[in-house]
Amino acid sequence: MGLRSLLAATLVCCSTGSAAVSSTGFTVELGDVQYFLPPKSVATIEVGQERSLFDDATFVPFTAVHGSGYSAGEITSITAKYLEEDDVFQAGFLDALYIPEANQTYASSLQARNTTTAILTGSATLSPGPYFLSATGKVYEAWRLYSDTNSAFTETAISNGDDSYSVLPAGIIGQNLAIAVPSRLYYQKTAEKPLAGIRIGIKDIYDIKGLRTSNGNRAWYWLYPPANATATPVQNLIDAGAIVVGKMITSQFANGESATADWVSYHEAFNPRGDGYQDTSSSSSGGGAGAAAYEWLDITLGSDTGGSVRNPSQVQGVYGNRPSHGLVGLEHTMPMSPVLDTPGLLSRDPLILKVAAKAMYKENITFSTSYPSAIKTLGFPTAPSTIANTLLLDFVGNVSSFLNANVTTFNLSTAWIASNVSSERLESMLNLTYPVLITQQQAPLVRDPFYADYAAKHDGRRPFIDPVPLVRWGWGDNTTETLDRAIANKTMFMSWFNSTVLVANKQTCSDSLLFYVGTTGAAPDYRNVYLSDPRPPAGFGQNSISGFSEAPDYVVPIGEAPYNSTITGHVEYLPVAVDIMAAKGCDGMILSLIEALYEAGILKKAKAGRSGVTGGDILFKRGVGA
Ligand SMILES: *[C@@H]1O[C@H](CO)[C@@H](O)[C@H](O)[C@H]1NC(C)=O
Ligand SMILES: *[C@@H]1O[C@H](CO)[C@@H](O)[C@H](O)[C@H]1NC(C)=O
Ligand SMILES: *[C@@H]1O[C@H](CO)[C@@H](O)[C@H](O)[C@H]1NC(C)=O
Ligand SMILES: *[C@@H]1O[C@H](CO)[C@@H](O)[C@H](O)[C@H]1NC(C)=O
Ligand SMILES: *[C@@H]1O[C@H](CO)[C@@H](O)[C@H](O)[C@H]1NC(C)=O
Ligand SMILES: *[C@@H]1O[C@H](CO)[C@@H](O)[C@H](O)[C@H]1NC(C)=O
Ligand SMILES: *[C@@H]1O[C@H](CO)[C@@H](O)[C@H](O)[C@H]1NC(C)=O
Ligand SMILES: *[C@@H]1O[C@H](CO)[C@@H](O)[C@H](O)[C@H]1NC(C)=O
Ligand SMILES: *[C@@H]1O[C@H](CO)[C@@H](O)[C@H](O)[C@H]1NC(C)=O
Ligand SMILES: *[C@@H]1O[C@H](CO)[C@@H](O)[C@H](O)[C@H]1NC(C)=O
Ligand SMILES: *[C@@H]1O[C@H](CO)[C@@H](O)[C@H](O)[C@H]1NC(C)=O
Ligand SMILES: *[C@@H]1O[C@H](CO)[C@@H](O)[C@H](O)[C@H]1NC(C)=O
Repeated sequence: MGLRSLLAATLVCCSTGSAAVSSTGFTVELGDVQYFLPPKSVATIEVGQERSLFDDATFVPFTAVHGSGYSAGEITSITAKYLEEDDVFQAGFLDALYIPEANQTYASSLQARNTTTAILTGSATLSPGPYFLSATGKVYEAWRLYSDTNSAFTETAISNGDDSYSVLPAGIIGQNLAIAVPSRLYYQKTAEKPLAGIRIGIKDIYDIKGLRTSNGNRAWYWLYPPANATATPVQNLIDAGAIVVGKMITSQFANGESATADWVSYHEAFNPRGDGYQDTSSSSSGGGAGAAAYEWLDITLGSDTGGSVRNPSQVQGVYGNRPSHGLVGLEHTMPMSPVLDTPGLLSRDPLILKVAAKAMYKENITFSTSYPSAIKTLGFPTAPSTIANTLLLDFVGNVSSFLNANVTTFNLSTAWIASNVSSERLESMLNLTYPVLITQQQAPLVRDPFYADYAAKHDGRRPFIDPVPLVRWGWGDNTTETLDRAIANKTMFMSWFNSTVLVANKQTCSDSLLFYVGTTGAAPDYRNVYLSDPRPPAGFGQNSISGFSEAPDYVVPIGEAPYNSTITGHVEYLPVAVDIMAAKGCDGMILSLIEALYEAGILKKAKAGRSGVTGGDILFKRGVGA
């Protein structure tokens, strides 16, 4: 066989195009930092004499500045600001500087003044920030790779440049997924894109076009194809400019699970606070852990049916909201109980949370700045007997003087009895309402079609289900209580609550505010404890009020309190948090109030890391850096 036939065979092979190669991007290291370069270049620069820059390298790092005509000194102060403001930028990008439309005289004069930085020019417009240039002149964005050290993500995401996403084809050290985030310098916030460049993680119960959804169940993840549409709350955030960087850990089918025994299909995320081995609470476990642990992540989207945003926010010391029920459609989202389900956000920064809430709830949120002058407190301490109690009393004192509001202690149970709506105590009337709602709504909406689809594909088999949802669903099948009765009880409570406890008010949206203690940090919840068997989540408590009344419930971190850790044998600190409630529909008022309290110095942004107050490395990776 001669050379000629070999050549012919090769041509036959390649002309069919059956093995087309497409780029999924590149990974590079600059200094000791890992970067991902998305596959699509954003511009082309003619590479002339700059070719020498490449030496043997495939890519050359460079910095684009906005506009032209700066003096050398101005350029130095501009790039110094980049270093300060952006975690993706680093000095390595100063090997070359791209100045659009620079003329030869100007470029040469800059070059003469500074020989360590090569000057590139061209006609392409580039957003300012760090880039990589290929030898063929293609310009690629720089996305920094971070390790998901707290196991908060289930899947990574990178935009395909249309309305769909792919899994990030990159990995780094850390025994976890690598998450890619773009330079903050590329984005300019505008009225249309108030979340431009804001990095967000999405609870893995919301569909994102192009990615699979797991709902915390491995069989589900593999049974169904990648989503062909994006859930409405997520799409609203993307439309406002948010950058989706991945999907985040949820307990299975958003049921309340405790680490570790309950989490069989997947593990719970790791709470960064205190000794690093505290439960994250659930179900928005990954969203809480990620918001608390990672400086590089701005906000996360969770969901709250019976506390799934509020509890992870409380125990991880971040802001988090359960909105009024029904503010935004939940298409392409796994339901737990549609009469209770809400999409809520978690963030260290209350101002980002406010902007994101506006983008997500759109016309259904109204911001107002006239505040109630009455505060009802539920279960607050009466004396500053501990550090947590002092924080709680100071907070109420600070807010009441800020609003010039009176404070009254309130007891829901006695108020209910006093108002004579029913002869039955709240705690007994509503004891089974939540478990009936979640099981008798989720079983037909989620379990039954899942079992049928799985059985059809797997010769009649049943998929693996974690103990908690399995026990709950089974209880829901067998109880003599009905969905109708649960809804009737919920309605009865709501109607009493909205006419006597938190009443709509024309001027201040709500006649009063209701505060309850989110957490005192005094009861560590270790993840290395053996648990008892799961039971249906019966009971009525302060945590249940917003679900049954449909009123908003916002968690604010107010500090931290010490505990003796059985893990470290040392004093560690856990978050202290307050929940703020108002009448249904007053989300915008609460968010404005939180912003005002932040501006008055009464509330602070939470820090990422071991402590929400002082930051610091997460204990198990102390001293290792980002
Ligand atoms: C070259 O560019 C510099 C800086 O933008 C500008 O000041 C100067 O007038 C330009 N010279 C010519 C000949 O266009
Ligand atoms: C050269 O320019 C870069 C980028 O502005 C700056 O960081 C560096 O300090 C400059 N070097 C000198 C010697 O001026
Ligand atoms: C999208 O997915 C849903 C659910 O899997 C399916 O019913 C629908 O036909 C799909 N739509 C398109 C346009 O593929
Ligand atoms: C606002 O609420 C209504 C009623 O729940 C809903 O139909 C509408 O879709 C919501 N708007 C948005 C932007 O989701
Ligand atoms: C507290 O303020 C509210 C609203 O101004 C008022 O209706 C209520 O009577 C006050 N309560 C007390 C105990 O002063
Ligand atoms: C509310 O009152 C009931 C008695 O009606 C009591 O058992 C309960 O402890 C009180 N709750 C609080 C938070 O004080
Ligand atoms: C609530 O229901 C649980 C489970 O059926 C039961 O054990 C408990 O006694 C009930 N509590 C009240 C206050 O009715
Ligand atoms: C509803 O309330 C009645 C009492 O009014 C109670 O007996 C029943 O257990 C409740 N059921 C549910 C599901 O909430
Ligand atoms: C519910 O009832 C079915 C049928 O009687 C039974 O097989 C199952 O064990 C029961 N489940 C629970 C959780 O009680
Ligand atoms: C109060 O609750 C009842 C019962 O759910 C509801 O029909 C009514 O619209 C609510 N009113 C307000 C002002 O929210
Ligand atoms: C920790 O334990 C020591 C010794 O038992 C005790 O004195 C101290 O009060 C404890 N601290 C906390 C915050 O519980
Ligand atoms: C909050 O209250 C405490 C105790 O009265 C006081 O020391 C502190 O200055 C107040 N903080 C603000 C921001 O008003």
